[in-house]
Amino acid sequence: MRVLSGIQPTGRPHWGNYFGAIRQYIDLQEDNDGFYFIADLHALTTVREPAQLRENVLNAALDLLALGLDPAKATLFVQSQIPEVSELCWLLMTGTPMGLLERCHAYKDKKEKGLAADAGLFTYPVLMAADILAYDSEIVPVGADQIQHIEVCRDLAGSFHHTFGETFVMPKAKTLDVGAKVPGTDGQKMSKSYNNTLPLFGDVKKIRKQIMRIVTDSRAMEDPKEPEGDHLFELYQLFAGPEEVSAMAEKYCAGGFGYGEIKKAVAEVSEAHFEPARQRRDELEKDIDTVNDILNAGAARAREVAASVLERARSACGIR
Ligand code: ADP
Ligand code: TRP
Repeated sequence: MRVLSGIQPTGRPHWGNYFGAIRQYIDLQEDNDGFYFIADLHALTTVREPAQLRENVLNAALDLLALGLDPAKATLFVQSQIPEVSELCWLLMTGTPMGLLERCHAYKDKKEKGLAADAGLFTYPVLMAADILAYDSEIVPVGADQIQHIEVCRDLAGSFHHTFGETFVMPKAKTLDVGAKVPGTDGQKMSKSYNNTLPLFGDVKKIRKQIMRIVTDSRAMEDPKEPEGDHLFELYQLFAGPEEVSAMAEKYCAGGFGYGEIKKAVAEVSEAHFEPARQRRDELEKDIDTVNDILNAGAARAREVAASVLERARSACGIR
């Protein structure tokens, strides 16, 4: 199956991004023909600093490769290296009703907040549809917030077919397991918009300090505590095995145990979990040429597919 997903290079990944999205994309490379790209054209709607964008794209590639994306199994590339997608975007745009885009949340939310939106943000879902259709994608794994965009993609493909005949593979969304909603340092959902994130990579000592500062309730040390719904316990569960988890649950219920202890445990299990990825990332950082080679080889492979799909679409709508 052709599985495709795009990741916006807008900031450094946090634990929520990893458990809620990245890890699941990477798992899918095992039994599928995975296409994963860094959506720099989409990021341009928010990142307006060229050096920053270049750095973000490279960081995203390093992160994905360090976390286990294997170029021998999957195709990794940068969105803008496939100009066929932008052309396909135009072909789709000509049949896109304004009303459909007006209902899309990224644009709608910004407008409702009274912020100025540009045509890039307004047409963002059409570029995303082109991304998906250009590679004959069958499955598109995304977080719940992106489901609406997959629906738009299916609508646009359907109306293109209605006008010009069957051309594209109709994609399906695969919703990621939202059971794994990762809490942040304040107990709310971890999100860069809430400033409560714990990063995957970076200075271990600094991250440990952030973990030790996670907010807790003010129950006394000797009081029993409920593991259920406790955000520190939830964080611990992301990393620890079932036996460690039940031992920790017993400690919670017995009392005589302070939150400092589980914070330390979270720091230890998370450091051990990400250590191999950290090491791989350090190695890759010393060998940027290899990273660029991987991205170029990925782009060449992706471009071949996109060129043939674009040819089908051009010929269907009468473009020479
Ligand atoms: P943020 O909320 O930090 O801006 P994004 O919206 O860029 O994160 O998230 C990218 C993907 O990472 C989402 O589609 C979602 O699947 C996943 N994700 C983000 N935060 C969490 C979280 N706290 N728990 C689980 N998954 C998350
Ligand atoms: N819009 C997606 C996000 O913000 C990123 C993205 C761009 C994407 N093009 C895509 C995801 C195509 C899946 C398929 O997360």
